[in-house]
Parts: sequence; structure tokens; C-alpha cells
Amino acid sequence: MSLDLSARTVMERCEILSHISEEADCLTRRFATPAMREVNEVVATWMRIAGMTVQIDAIGNIIGRYEASTPGAKTLLLGSHLDTVRDAGKYDGPLGVMVALACVERLHQRGERLPFAIEVLGFADEEGVRYHTAYIGSRAVAGIFDVSTLELRDEDGISLADAIRQFGGNPDPEVLRTPRWQREKLLGYCEVHIEQGPVLEERDLPVGWVPAISGQNRYALTFVGKAGHAGTVPTELRQDALCAASEFILAVESLARTTSGLVATVGKIVVQSSASNVIPGHVVISLDVRHKSGAVLEQACKELRTEGNQISQKRGVTLNWQTVQTDQTIYCAPHMANLLAQAIKQVGYPAFILPSGAGHDGVSLSEITDIAMLFVRCKGGISHHPDESVTAEDVEVALNVMDQFLRSFENELEAGADYNV
Ligand code: GLV
Ligand code: MN
Ligand code: MN
Repeated sequence: MSLDLSARTVMERCEILSHISEEADCLTRRFATPAMREVNEVVATWMRIAGMTVQIDAIGNIIGRYEASTPGAKTLLLGSHLDTVRDAGKYDGPLGVMVALACVERLHQRGERLPFAIEVLGFADEEGVRYHTAYIGSRAVAGIFDVSTLELRDEDGISLADAIRQFGGNPDPEVLRTPRWQREKLLGYCEVHIEQGPVLEERDLPVGWVPAISGQNRYALTFVGKAGHAGTVPTELRQDALCAASEFILAVESLARTTSGLVATVGKIVVQSSASNVIPGHVVISLDVRHKSGAVLEQACKELRTEGNQISQKRGVTLNWQTVQTDQTIYCAPHMANLLAQAIKQVGYPAFILPSGAGHDGVSLSEITDIAMLFVRCKGGISHHPDESVTAEDVEVALNVMDQFLRSFENELEAGADYNV
């Protein structure tokens, strides 16, 4: 099969971006790090080649704008995030930005303008690795930035406010709470993303459309017991914070096993002043809980809180439970989802529907506009891992679907449709 030039370009660019990392031997790009600065510079160059004007906003998002055929027209937002988890794959985030960029580049090469402007967004933080709170970039764009998070500190003790300043941004709460656009100026936001699950592969399909993004709650739990000598304090007299945290972690797993559709993860443990001969006295763990039903999610979090308190009490340990983030399940807009489903069919595939268990920037963007998402098959459903893999052929399908999607918007607007008013 001969491959379209833009699909090949998307693959090459994802490869180039995968070498821009904080760490020499793997891909790690956290919020507001030199690697993010470098990635923004490279993406800015590609955006200019595609005929866009470029700006970096107060939080570090890169925004490329391709003007409409008529002044004052509305704007369609496309994009994804450019940050990654630690030891990441090449496609979670960057693929969506590169596909969006390639769509605009195709228009530019044809010298074509649409009756709406397009802005391609490369978000500064979706994963929340550095500050444990996701969507830092898209929340600022949507004007829903949680200003209390400015005081959070990363593992080197740098506050979020200082990280923004050091990156050249502006941590002024007023700025971060001001949405970039008013709803009536926007047509919507559409994101292309790898599926991060095995369903499309199982169905032998290159793409699927997303009806909803599951809700998620994130917490930081601090267990405080009593540090002591590993050789001298008898077991029954210990207040081991790590043992309390460990018992709680197994309770988390057990609740997830017995609650249909619930996923719950402790992905991070920090043992303060840890040493092999010291009883752990102070432990902080992360907790990420997700379910598509808000009621089930809330009930699960309530049960875990009770369980955590009981375990801690029994072990003479105190537990402080800090809520870092709560997000409801977000539904994609039916009219946009419908256009996307039609576009998939026009490109020659069934319009397969696929809810998202992973979080995406559309959750924040849904505060200011309608959203839609297209998932692209990834090998073995693997993500958040260097083995993440997509094929250029599937990327070509995604590009063609997005082309068709843009075309449908154009046709609807020309036929007099008036979105978001
Ligand atoms: C992002 O990948 C998330 O779902 O946490
Ligand atoms: Mn992602
Ligand atoms: Mn991710």
C-alpha cells in the first residue's frame, strides 16, 4: 500500500518528538521542563510551515492558528497534549497534535481556507506527572484552572507557580482563570488519540469514535506513624506507616475487583527518609479511582476513605486524605460525534463506538465548547509504556477521517448551520 506523505510525516514527527526527553535513556516530558520548551520550539517550526501563527500561552500551551476564509468566523479547536508519563511511548498525546497539524498543512498546501479558523493546541500538561493534578494545560485554556494547585510542590520542592514562572509563563490566578475563548466564538474541540486499549485491534478496525470520557478522582494520602530502629522495636509496638499504606493498597485492589467497571490505582509511593534499617514513619501515596458512573465512583471513594481510616486506626497511624482532582464523566456532543461517525463511514469503515476509560483534555475543554474524540488502534492496547505502537496506515485513516470531518463542518456551515449560539 502506498502511503500518503502526511501520514509518513506524522510518524516521522512523532519519532522526532520522542527523542526530546528529560532523561537520556527514555522518554519523559513533564510539565514546564526544558524538554517541554524544546518540544514547543520544534512544534512551533512545524506550525509555521503549515501556515499558522504561533503563540505560547501563560501556562505553556502551544497554540497554532490557521485563519478562516472570512474575518470574524468561528474557530474549531484540534489537538492533544505534548507532555508524557515517565518512560513513555511516542504517541499518547503527540499523535493528536501531529495529526491536527498535518490536517492544517494539507489545507495550506492546497492554498485552501475554510469558513472557520482552526487552532491546533499542544497542551502543556495532561498526564499530571509532575504535580499529580492532570489537565493543567487545558484547564488554563478553559479558564477553570484550580488556583489552589499553584502551591503544590514537585519532588524537588518547586512550586507549580515557580515552575510556570521559570518556564516563562504567568502564574497570575486572574490570567489562568480567564478562558481563551467565549463559547459563542467556538465550533468545538476534536482530539485524535491512541485508544490505549485492545478493542480496536480485536475488532480489526483502525479507528473508532468516543461517546464519553470516564470520570476520575485523584487523591494524595499521607500515612503518619512512628519511625524507629529496624532492629530494636518489637513488631507489636510498631506504628509502621508503610504497612498501613500497603494494607490500604490491597483494599483498593479488592474493591476494584468486586465493583464492576471500577478501576483504582496506587501508582506512586513516597517513603520519607527511607532506609533499609528504619521503620517507615511517613508515607505518601497517590490514589486514582475511575468509573463511568459518577454515583459508583463517589460510593467507591467513600468506602475507600472509611477503609483507610479503619486500617490506620487499627495500626496507630494517622491518615490525611487530600483531594487532588475530581472529574465527572464527560459526554461528547451528539452533533460532533455524528459528524465524526459519518466521516469514518465515508472513509470506508464502520463507525465503531468506544468509550474512553483514560482521561483527555476534552474533559476541560467541555467547559467552554462541544467536544469529540477519535481513537486510533494501538498495538496490544499498550500505552504509558515505550512499547506504544501505531501503524502509518492507521494514521492515514485517521487523517482522512479528520479531513472528511472538516469538510462536513464546512458543508454544514455553508448550509447555514449555527453552532453553539
Ligand atoms: C491519562 O493518560 C490518564 O488517563 O491518566
Ligand atoms: Mn493522553
Ligand atoms: Mn496518557
